[in-house]
Amino acid sequence: MSEIHAQREQLQELTQAALPEIEAATNLKDLDAVRVKYMGRSGLVTEVSKVMKDLSNEARPQLGQLMNDFRNSFTQVFDAKKEELEEAALQEQLASEAIDVTLPGRKPTIGARHIITQTMEEIEDLFIGMGYQIIEGPEVELDLYNFEMMNLPQNHPARDMQDSFYIDSEVLLRTHTSPVQARTMLAHNFEEGPLKMISPGKVFRRDNDDATHSHQFHQIEGLVVDKKITLADLKGTLLVFAQQLFGEDQEIRLRPSYFPFTEPSVEVDVSCFNCGGDGCSVCSRTGWIEILGAGIVHPKVLEMANIDATKYSGMAFGLGPDRVAMLKYAVEDIRHFYQNDLRFTRQFQGGQN
Ligand code: DAH
Repeated sequence: MSEIHAQREQLQELTQAALPEIEAATNLKDLDAVRVKYMGRSGLVTEVSKVMKDLSNEARPQLGQLMNDFRNSFTQVFDAKKEELEEAALQEQLASEAIDVTLPGRKPTIGARHIITQTMEEIEDLFIGMGYQIIEGPEVELDLYNFEMMNLPQNHPARDMQDSFYIDSEVLLRTHTSPVQARTMLAHNFEEGPLKMISPGKVFRRDNDDATHSHQFHQIEGLVVDKKITLADLKGTLLVFAQQLFGEDQEIRLRPSYFPFTEPSVEVDVSCFNCGGDGCSVCSRTGWIEILGAGIVHPKVLEMANIDATKYSGMAFGLGPDRVAMLKYAVEDIRHFYQNDLRFTRQFQGGQN
């Protein structure tokens, strides 16, 4: 009997066992387990080869040959199976990631600018058209600019109308956009020409919120400083503004008023765009709607900003875009603007993204 008879038989048995096991594997992991079982470092084939060192010189290459034969037939079947399983796995992945191009697309939701922003930008555009710059100021402001330089010194009774949120005794959330007047006048170089600016932004007051008051709302400040600015310039500017915003037939009316930073001061009404002046519920049957405060800049305000009030004069105005939007779009409660209820905000998408 040949020296390697036992090994030959073992290898035959292994071949008979291994090839069906390879065929039976249903995934790459199971297939690899078969490889380790037979061909791994401590696999069944290695076991068989352990006698090698005790064999005669003739028998050794014979066993080597038998082992090579085993390896070849194993590898051939194994590689074919591996390729088959890899292809199947790929097909499965492709199927699971398939895109159904016949499905209707998902419509992207595109946001829109808030109606207050739209209103402010409309007003900004209008003033840009008249040569104004847009200047923004900080919402957390110094008492110095918010009150002091607006001619509202400590203990001035008019401060009560604008109760604020104080950070400390010198710093507060600005109660109006007027402090930007002071900041801009200080920064302006009049040798380069007149100062014409509007300043839109948020303002804050410690009011009790109700249908027409919110602790946060918006203002647009306007300021022009040049030589010989008069109330006629103010009136003409505001008439153009009202007509562009509300319609060609608009009229405006100036009523005397009081603001510490202007002298004289006026309140400005526009003829009711709802009824054209006949009287309706929008204008409380008066035919007029108040939309802003304005006036000729108080000489003290100019002088506090180092401007020679004997040479220069100014006009200023402050208007509330929330109120303009409420009137223009018949919104009955200012709080709607700030609650972000989509049923409300979506009414103003109007394609103006
Ligand atoms: N700052 C004023 C307020 O918040 C509004 C105002 C009135 C601004 C008259 C002005 C102005 O510039 O001239 O009540």
